Amino acid sequence: MKKAFLLLAVVLMALPVAVFANGADEDGSIVIGANIYSFADNFMNGVMKPELERYAAEKGAVIEIVDSEGQQAKLNDQIDVFITKGVDVLAINLVDPASASSVIEKAKRAGIPLVLFNKEATEAGVMGTYDKVWYVGTNSAESGIIQGEMMVADWLNNPEWDKNGDGVVQYVMLKGEPGHPDAEARTLESVKAFTRAGIDVEQLALEADPNWSTQHGNDKMQAWLSSSFGDDIELVICNNDGMAFGAINALKTAGVVIPLYGVDALDQALTHIAEGEMNGTVLNDGVNQSRATLDLAINAAQGVDVTEGTIWTIENNETKAVRVPYVPVTPENYQDFR
Ligand code: GAL
Ligand code: CA
Repeated sequence: MKKAFLLLAVVLMALPVAVFANGADEDGSIVIGANIYSFADNFMNGVMKPELERYAAEKGAVIEIVDSEGQQAKLNDQIDVFITKGVDVLAINLVDPASASSVIEKAKRAGIPLVLFNKEATEAGVMGTYDKVWYVGTNSAESGIIQGEMMVADWLNNPEWDKNGDGVVQYVMLKGEPGHPDAEARTLESVKAFTRAGIDVEQLALEADPNWSTQHGNDKMQAWLSSSFGDDIELVICNNDGMAFGAINALKTAGVVIPLYGVDALDQALTHIAEGEMNGTVLNDGVNQSRATLDLAINAAQGVDVTEGTIWTIENNETKAVRVPYVPVTPENYQDFR
């Protein structure tokens, strides 16, 4: 009895390995080894993960998505496990955008195609080190430009936003992850839109947060409101909606209304826009980024041209990137995104 049970346990434990070892599961489906850098991230967990799962099923592929818990070392181990299991292709959301080379090296050594998504590699030339690596994401700068132009238009339409009447925008910025191409580009581009329009800006405070989190947004906004410059804040720029939600909460708690913008266009952001608590956001099209990731991954696993039969195009041979466009979301059009 005991022996039989033990045998069964051994067989069950060996099963997933045996199944993957054929390069496909029992019915010949493609097996994708994937991760999300952190399941605690609103956008990655709330938008990209469900669509990766739904779309994989629609395409008849098997996907396993693991949580890297914000640790690059953990992700490196998870990739080793996927390789040992014999997955057909890897779809990887880097934790550290500066650590792509070690990930690419692992995939290359195993001869497994690799699609990086959401966090673009920052090491120069790294995409050229393997013929079977591609990237799916956005044009990071575009989100900042769209957000910036939205803020400029609203600022010009609402002269009372210039509380102290000095013609200068006194703003605070919730940046997100330092070194993340999205965080860096959004921080620069949103503010540049003002200077391009001939409007001076003054940064009262800027805080980074590797987790892009609501808690951080709340805590920082609360601290800023009660600081010496609390009454001077005329604009809150948030590089993602998750942090914006926290800032909105802090503003509500303090009973203060200050124009506030985010990025991502999560459902909750649309509700905040409807309720006049948020002035705009930018759609980060995670649904299409998930689909592009899997379209490329499945083609790569089948050994055909990655964009074959898809609506995607690769930007160039250096970045090897598919970039999904951002879309402005305002009080006028937010209902189209529900
Ligand atoms: C960004 C997104 C953020 C966060 C980040 C994670 O594109 O706007 O909310 O999810 O990706 O890498
Ligand atoms: Ca001012």
